[in-house]
Amino acid sequence: MERELALEFVRITEAAAIAAARWMGRGDKEAADQAAVDAMRALFDTVDIRGTVVIGEGEMDEAPMLYIGEQVGTGRGPEVDVAVDPLEGTNLVAKGLPNAIAVLAVAPRGCLLHAPDIYMDKIAVGPAAAGQVDLDAPVAENLKAVARALGKRVEDVTVIILDRPRHADIIRQVREAGARIRLISDGDVSAAIATALPDTGIDLMLGIGGAPEGVLAAAALRCLGGELQGRLHPTDDAERERAEAMVGDVRRKLMLDDLVCGDDVMFAATGITAGDMLRGVRFTGDGAYTHSLVMRARTGTVRFIEALHRLERKPYFGRESTR
Ligand code: FBP
Repeated sequence: MERELALEFVRITEAAAIAAARWMGRGDKEAADQAAVDAMRALFDTVDIRGTVVIGEGEMDEAPMLYIGEQVGTGRGPEVDVAVDPLEGTNLVAKGLPNAIAVLAVAPRGCLLHAPDIYMDKIAVGPAAAGQVDLDAPVAENLKAVARALGKRVEDVTVIILDRPRHADIIRQVREAGARIRLISDGDVSAAIATALPDTGIDLMLGIGGAPEGVLAAAALRCLGGELQGRLHPTDDAERERAEAMVGDVRRKLMLDDLVCGDDVMFAATGITAGDMLRGVRFTGDGAYTHSLVMRARTGTVRFIEALHRLERKPYFGRESTR
């Protein structure tokens, strides 16, 4: 993939973020999601790729746009797999809470795990602790490994965990070990990325979240030199059967290479609501500021892009611009 594509991908996440941000705090997560999907879908058609959606809004019969298997792009250029989450953190936007992002990852055909829309048990760390943790190790051991890698005491390690009843045992174990916890209501893609960026104060992510989100986070951590390990977590027989049809043995521990292979991976995200790593969309009289992150695994370059969009003069955001 040409590196120039990175900027094209950011334009896509910017459009989705601006569209979703109009719905901030309005208590309507479906409308926010739909706006982001519409904007993202429209922009994809301007990019020279032959893309296939492998992580998207759902199966063809349940999602009219960005469904799994949908072809996106102009039909010229490299053949790629595309993983998207036009609005990661629908509740966060509905309530105006931090860390909602528009996100996508692109890799050569066959390089992104076609993860079913079920849960995944995950552990994620930044570059310093990559290769030092193990999804199957006790929590206390992983905490010690992270502390050692970061040159910190376990008491100074901060773990980010989705605040869910299913995580009561992990939370108890982290507390017993004496480490610090940041509980979040939603958004484990940005949580996983936070482990790999300086100044977020987050060292480790633990717990069960969406499997599609796991693949997106793995793409980001591949670019950042961090690590994510996961295991699919079906909650009933139907999910287990679907997962087995898609990825084989569901009990298998999925390493970073299983989730995202190779180094020809690009990742882009734009902040929707203000967050730890990205500022949210800020509207001006005739436009909007966006703050995005774009990365390529091959070079490891991490670019933060601040943009001012003249929405009224350049209405390329589909129906959002005419509202
Ligand atoms: P949505 O954007 O689809 O609402 O997902 C938000 C999210 O918090 C993800 O970041 C996370 O992986 C998943 O939901 C957790 O699922 P659940 O809310 O069922 O625990």
